[in-house]
Amino acid sequence: MAHNLLKGKRGIITGALDQNSIAWKVAEKAHEEGATFVLTNAPIAMRMGEINKLAEKTGSTIIPADATSIEDLTKLFTESQEVLGGKIDFVLHSIGMSVNIRKKISYPESNHDFFMKGLDVSAMSLHKMLSVAWKLDAINEWGSVVALSYMAAQRTFPFYTDMADIKAMLESIARSFGYHYGLRKKVRVNTVSQSPTKTTAGTGIKGFGDFFDYAEAVAPLGNASAEDCANYCITLFSDLTRMVTMQNLFHDGGYVNTGVSDIVMQKMGIENNTEA
Ligand SMILES: NC(=O)c1ccc[n+]([C@@H]2O[C@H](COP(=O)([O-])OP(=O)(O)OC[C@H]3O[C@@H](n4cnc5c(N)ncnc54)[C@H](O)[C@@H]3O)[C@@H](O)[C@H]2O)c1
Repeated sequence: MAHNLLKGKRGIITGALDQNSIAWKVAEKAHEEGATFVLTNAPIAMRMGEINKLAEKTGSTIIPADATSIEDLTKLFTESQEVLGGKIDFVLHSIGMSVNIRKKISYPESNHDFFMKGLDVSAMSLHKMLSVAWKLDAINEWGSVVALSYMAAQRTFPFYTDMADIKAMLESIARSFGYHYGLRKKVRVNTVSQSPTKTTAGTGIKGFGDFFDYAEAVAPLGNASAEDCANYCITLFSDLTRMVTMQNLFHDGGYVNTGVSDIVMQKMGIENNTEA
């Protein structure tokens, strides 16, 4: 059920690779809620052509941009304002890639060139986007920028390897830039720390399937789906959350605050004494 929460708002949505992508669901919801937006992804991701279907469905223009390129990002923010007819109200940063994860290299063995690449693509890109927007004065007052993160930024999940450190940097950039942009233009910057989700980036992680089931067994509400995440992002883009900024917001069915669950204890064959 739509509530017109984004009526009249203009946005930029990164990272919609296919219909499993969290960004894909955000685009569908943003469209339902009355927003107009530009879709963007790395030029190489365009080859799959899936994004064209989303653009057609949501009446959006696609502007390719490598999120590590200041030149591409400048073009993205400049042309988006032209296409949409004004300054931008919301931006979704939904970009993640680790070469070390792709090549199944363990954390202690990390290749440092790959590490730097992951940092540039998945964390520095948020700083690059925000600094381009800042220079162009491309975001409206009370605009909202959301980047997607994962709890490995706070707690160790060994299979998440270098992305743990990269997400910690992403969350820090959201806080630091959130301060400056808030002061200057009342622009809000937050990260959403999402449950494990079955997407291309998610399932590329070694042992993801087992961990997905584990997280589902720990979180009292179970894992949050990509669609749930999209709904949460919409609230953060809306005017209903105007005073929320510089936060890392857990969207994980309660996982982060659960020490152990009855289901996990039962799975381990340990008797449940919690009702005694
Ligand atoms: N899937 C999960 O379990 C999970 C959990 C928490 C957070 N996240 C985060 O959610 C975000 C979206 O990932 P997803 O799970 O929807 O997977 P996804 O694979 O669908 O999306 C990742 C996107 O990053 C894009 N990308 C990669 N390099 C790029 C570059 N140089 N320039 C521009 N775009 C580039 C890809 O093309 C892709 O569209 C990521 O930041 C990811 O870390 C995912």
